[in-house]
Amino acid sequence: MTRFKPCVTIYIGILPVKIYPRKCNILLNEEVATLMKIIKVGVVGCGQMGGGIAQVCAQSGYTVVVSEINDELLKKGLAAIESSLNRSVQKERITRQDRDAVLARIRGTTDTRDFGECDLVIEAAVENLDLKKKIFGELDKVCPEHTILATNTSCLPITDMAAATGRPDRVLGMHFFNPVPVMKLLEIIRTTATSEATIEAGKSFGQSLDKTFVIVQDSPGFIVNRLVTPQILNAIRMVESGIATAKDIDTAMSLGLNYPMGPLALADLIGLDTVLFIANGIYDKLRDEQYATPALLKDMVAAGQLGRKTGKGFYEYT
Ligand code: 3HC
Repeated sequence: MTRFKPCVTIYIGILPVKIYPRKCNILLNEEVATLMKIIKVGVVGCGQMGGGIAQVCAQSGYTVVVSEINDELLKKGLAAIESSLNRSVQKERITRQDRDAVLARIRGTTDTRDFGECDLVIEAAVENLDLKKKIFGELDKVCPEHTILATNTSCLPITDMAAATGRPDRVLGMHFFNPVPVMKLLEIIRTTATSEATIEAGKSFGQSLDKTFVIVQDSPGFIVNRLVTPQILNAIRMVESGIATAKDIDTAMSLGLNYPMGPLALADLIGLDTVLFIANGIYDKLRDEQYATPALLKDMVAAGQLGRKTGKGFYEYT
């Protein structure tokens, strides 16, 4: 809640000098406690990222509402969660009972009003700023006052999404990594308006999901995408100019640097359309040539070669 700090008087010699109040966020203990109490989590979008987020939240004991824009996509997203859990059952990481309990905690919806009882809503819709601002405006209307609104955007300005709400102090970025059930990192992104209590709630929530968080200011690409994007783009430029094959570049980076996968296999995993989107998004803000997109990437995206999700990118997938 925004309040004004009381006026303070200091003395320079015998001269009283009044320091006038400035607008700031001062939180009462009970407000911090309310923001920390997250029981029900909403996830907007049940694609690769949204589905993964919904799954890890339910696996950590939260009641989850996850939405999609239509029944068909919702069914597909929920089936992907179930198959990911089945894989964990097969690998004996969880029991069938655990899987059933997790699935029972997840409810799918196509109606934004179903987020009306959530304490935290994480938006993981497609990367379109206008759409995200619209979603944030709608969530602001249906969610209770205490609800924290988060976005999983990979590079769009969170400040703009916060501005679409009447609660910018309770808006932050929570950037998960793909595949969400496996990747340990959570980037927590603060805007200049995000309150300390919201950041604290985000940290506690991340820990409850068994993620390790880092804190970063709202900025193009945050930490990971800001650093990894030039590497992926350079690998694409190397393929483009015939310096080495995709396979040899990836082998070099995997074995030479101990990466779990090379930059081109990673681009296929992320989705080449997403890589293009992130690079363009960062380039638009920074005008830094490192982020200028190679023609090969644009051509592959135009040809529908988006990586794993379409079965073909730098590699072929069956
Ligand atoms: N759900 C649950 N578990 C999964 C999973 C999923 N979707 N995908 C993989 N796993 C598990 C497997 O079951 C396996 O578990 P086990 O060791 O207990 O048997 C383990 O992860 C390893 O999987 P695999 O054996 O199938 O395959 P790999 O050893 O090749 O690992 C990988 C696959 C985890 C994807 C690994 O290659 C990796 O870590 N790659 C790098 C991924 C990465 O960098 N992600 C970040 C992308 S950037 C991003 O997301 C930001 C965004 O804004 C673009």
